[in-house]
Amino acid sequence: MRGWARRGALTVCAAWLAGTLVSGQAPALKQLVPNGMLIGAALGQRQWDGTDAAAAAIVPVQFSSVSPENALKWGPVHPEAARYNFEPADRYVAYAEAHGLAAIGHVLVWHQQTPAWVFAGEGGGRASREVLLARMREHIQAVVGRYRGRIRGWDVVNEAVDEDGSLRKTPWLEIIGEDYIAKAFEFARAADPKAELYYNDYNLWKPAKLAGALRIVRGLKNGGMRIDAVGEQGHWLIGEPSAAEIDATIAGIAAAGLKTVITELDVDVLPRDEGMYGADLSQQRAYQASTNVYPDGLPQEQQERLARRYADIFRVFLKHRGHVSRVTLWGVTDLYSWLNNFPVRGRVNYPLLWDRQGRPKPAFQAVVEVLKGVR
Ligand code: XIL
Repeated sequence: MRGWARRGALTVCAAWLAGTLVSGQAPALKQLVPNGMLIGAALGQRQWDGTDAAAAAIVPVQFSSVSPENALKWGPVHPEAARYNFEPADRYVAYAEAHGLAAIGHVLVWHQQTPAWVFAGEGGGRASREVLLARMREHIQAVVGRYRGRIRGWDVVNEAVDEDGSLRKTPWLEIIGEDYIAKAFEFARAADPKAELYYNDYNLWKPAKLAGALRIVRGLKNGGMRIDAVGEQGHWLIGEPSAAEIDATIAGIAAAGLKTVITELDVDVLPRDEGMYGADLSQQRAYQASTNVYPDGLPQEQQERLARRYADIFRVFLKHRGHVSRVTLWGVTDLYSWLNNFPVRGRVNYPLLWDRQGRPKPAFQAVVEVLKGVR
């Protein structure tokens, strides 16, 4: 290449790169996803109050939907029987509305991040079925009712299925019985008849677990209840599940007549103990420096591997366009990802599309190229 031509090309390239890096926002995922597919990110207080300046710049430009990482879970929103704490969730919904983002509700009934009082009997011991059902109804009416018409869809029940496909032995199941799931859907439907309602879980790529989730779906439908989609959390590892397994999961949900929402996508690049997939919050491990393998940055070949992994995953979503109505990333930049603390506290992880400084990663570029059909 002649000197001037090379300089010209370099200038154009440098300008493009600087533009991309500075804005961190071109091109926009929300403009590239197929019609009918929302693209979202989970947010915490730092993101919606602007403390996380990188996220504040990225979210309104890139995304069309948001989810609250913690603010609408039972513990944060309803810490004591007679006390709700709606302020953070109010701010979350106001942020979504100010930026024209579809706000999602997460989560109504779960065995994690639920205060002990919920399951406690008034005179000691465990609550009765009637008392727990009454608490569930009151909670759902209060929370879903407060945001009626403003929250697009709710994760009604989270993680009710065990790895073998049976119902997970949670206090909800033990105290109320199997119909606790139907009751939660019934109460949510009554509180906001127009909101979409989802069943949400991780590891649905495991056939036994997907079968368990689909049994729940069939039970609801047979009982005359509407369920709008199955949420596959999508807390995946760099090597597992395979694209074919993800493909089969979405196909299986579609065959049951439902849409899939990918509710909590991220890709863990750090080592995990054998057989430890998914997102079981009870599987917290102690810090070991030997597993914090990239404390100073992700090596280039790992960046590329992560980019290929994201490309493969989004290719599957695109293949099932029409069946995947939303893809939500569980965070914005790597800096605040929950995977810095799960399943091992205090590691440096790289699971998302923007780095710690808020710059788009090769994985972001790879997703863009897949969405543009050039990769
Ligand atoms: C996680 C949050 O990201 C953390 O901030 C919190 O400490 C624990 O929960 N499955 C879910 C999410 O449905 O609610 C979890 O979010 C991740 C696993």
